[in-house]
Amino acid sequence: MSVVTWRRCAVAMCFLAGALAGQAVQAEPGALSSKERLGKSLFEDAELSSKRNQACVLCHAPDAGFSSPQSDVNAAGAVIEGSIPGRFGNSKPPSAAYAAQSPVLYHAHEEDGGVLFTGGTFWNGRASGNRLGRPVADQARSPFLDPNEMALPDSACVVQRVCKPASTGHYPVKLTDVWGEDICKIDLPPDLDRRCADPAAKITLEKETREKVELAFDKIALAIAAYEASAEVNPFSSKFDLVLAGKAEFNPQEAKGLELFMDKALCANCHLLDAGPAGGPPLLTDFTYDNLGVPANPENPFYANSASNPQGRAWVEQGLKTYLETDPLYRATAASQLGKVKVPTLRNVDKRPSPDFVKAFMHNGYFKTLKGVVNFYNTRDTKPRCKAPGLGEAEALAQNCWPGPEVSENLNKDEMGDLKLTEAEEDAVVAFMKTLSDGYRPPSQ
Ligand code: HEC
Ligand code: HEC
Repeated sequence: MSVVTWRRCAVAMCFLAGALAGQAVQAEPGALSSKERLGKSLFEDAELSSKRNQACVLCHAPDAGFSSPQSDVNAAGAVIEGSIPGRFGNSKPPSAAYAAQSPVLYHAHEEDGGVLFTGGTFWNGRASGNRLGRPVADQARSPFLDPNEMALPDSACVVQRVCKPASTGHYPVKLTDVWGEDICKIDLPPDLDRRCADPAAKITLEKETREKVELAFDKIALAIAAYEASAEVNPFSSKFDLVLAGKAEFNPQEAKGLELFMDKALCANCHLLDAGPAGGPPLLTDFTYDNLGVPANPENPFYANSASNPQGRAWVEQGLKTYLETDPLYRATAASQLGKVKVPTLRNVDKRPSPDFVKAFMHNGYFKTLKGVVNFYNTRDTKPRCKAPGLGEAEALAQNCWPGPEVSENLNKDEMGDLKLTEAEEDAVVAFMKTLSDGYRPPSQ
């Protein structure tokens, strides 16, 4: 890809020059503003789901790096069951941390005539940020109403549960405390609570009531976005950050890993090591989209979710194309983005509640080990195609082959596939990624 050059020079510039030194280790967790505290309560409130059993935090848990806390699920299909039993979405929860700086989706033309999209959230960019000016705020409206996640039938159900004093008695800060008393003065239908129990209910409201509901729903989303942008969720307190701040040192393997990450392994082309859009420490993503050719996860439970997926096994993650097709401005470029998914942050990629806890990697959770991920970048195009269909990561590694890509169009062939890393070099890159977990405590002298 022609973006290689600028991506690479962006990296070379500031990191080694130490331009960021002293900027890291910023956060004092616990010091949340009232809007952020409200957002945290909303993020943790299972009342805001169909069966009152699911909250954002149950799919985005701090001790798993704001990703899935379910080791057994990660070890297999990697998709967490929604509020309604038997309902599954199609992907692995990415980190909800370090996502708040993603810019409103925009595009630029590349030298080779291609189009490079940056920003938005979700693997396929569909929370573009066009509604509320912040992709994470646009995003926060979705899970409540997604039939495979929190599964409420209408935003009015969320607003009612947040505004009703009985259910929000446990919020230390209320929606009205942050946005004023009027935000909850909405004339909602008396039987709304009962109807919200039916995930398929069609709730019609007077125009004025609908406008007030959407305004309150936007404020709920903005409070969640404020929490997701807070110092508690983005503490920048990893070993990597301490090294940047001159307060810790990498061991030789980690230092080697960082060098490879920036140079021979090309990782930093996309998992950037220069300042984030707001100027703070590196976010380890450039918020662009790529198709790496990750194999389909044969255990993805979405294949069997006939209510949402009439295509069954034939379904593939089409990536950014799915969103672009819905926008008249971008429809013409949609096909060129088939299969490209968002570059995720690598912060907390190895953060887990216990050493034997399994994490899943990539949009569909095909990979279960960082070593497997690095080996894939290194050898995607040099190992033979697996003969047996549907092999998982462990079997593919054992048989020294890779299954074909989930989507074969628009594969990235310039920055990966044959990196010529030795095994020791792969291990070093993994060792470096392990320094990206927040909450690092230097060993006492
Ligand atoms: C059932 C599990 C589940 C629940 C509940 C859930 N999420 Fe997610 N979250 C996911 C999955 C899966 C994705 C990726 C989906 C996709 O890209 O299509 C995701 C994506 C995200 C992203 C995008 C990150 C990025 O960089 O693109 C954010 C932010 C996020 N969720 C926050 C939230 C918030 C806020 C809530 C509650 C209002 C929530 N999630 C509830 C599973 C969940
Ligand atoms: C061309 C851009 C690009 C390059 C170069 C790149 N990555 Fe990635 N990385 C991505 C994208 C895009 C994804 C998500 C792909 C998917 O889910 O299908 C990803 C996902 C990952 C993940 C999984 C994270 C998660 O939360 O699931 C890890 C780990 C990772 N990359 C590490 C690396 C390492 C190590 C290197 C260098 C050897 C590297 N990447 C090089 C774009 C890139």
